[in-house]
Amino acid sequence: MTTVTWHRLTRAIERCRRCPLGHTRTHAVVYRGGERPSVVFVGEAPGRAEDATGRPFVGASGRRLDRAIAELGLRMDEVGVINLVKCRPPENRLPRRSVLACRPFLERQLELLDPPVIVTLGRHALAELVPDAPPITQAAGRERSWNRRPLVPLLHPAAVLHNPKLAPRWAADLDRLGAVLRRVLRQTL
Ligand code: URA
Repeated sequence: MTTVTWHRLTRAIERCRRCPLGHTRTHAVVYRGGERPSVVFVGEAPGRAEDATGRPFVGASGRRLDRAIAELGLRMDEVGVINLVKCRPPENRLPRRSVLACRPFLERQLELLDPPVIVTLGRHALAELVPDAPPITQAAGRERSWNRRPLVPLLHPAAVLHNPKLAPRWAADLDRLGAVLRRVLRQTL
């Protein structure tokens, strides 16, 4: 990633007023992670904690995600975390208009970060990057692709927090993701 281009993109996101969320946010939430991530996790949209800090996944679901990252044997500087939508939507909704307005930012972030593996979190990120994927309950843990690179869908960590019965599925999907990472990252060394 060239730092200047990334910095310009970050400033463009921070100044964006393409949808109404740009007027109500506290902070645009752009990125958390290393400069050359091996894996980029794509979530949905910032919540309260993210809006307050300007950093993605720093609330309860973020702690669950960070635990999973550690369990995969990855350091935080080996991963990146982004969202479909960069500004906090009201009442946990995900307005289609904002997803579309942010889409060029999402694509540019993925292009510049150029991770060997992408992981979508939850049904919205999956539907956005792999429109022909089956429902998330079928798709989670099964390798797909985005622009000729491996993409592994996972359940959203918030879903696992709200429904503890999903914990075994989440663990099994992480195991499958681990297997993909071992294969792909060995190849890119
Ligand atoms: N949920 C998301 O999808 N993204 C965040 O940044 C936080 C919670």
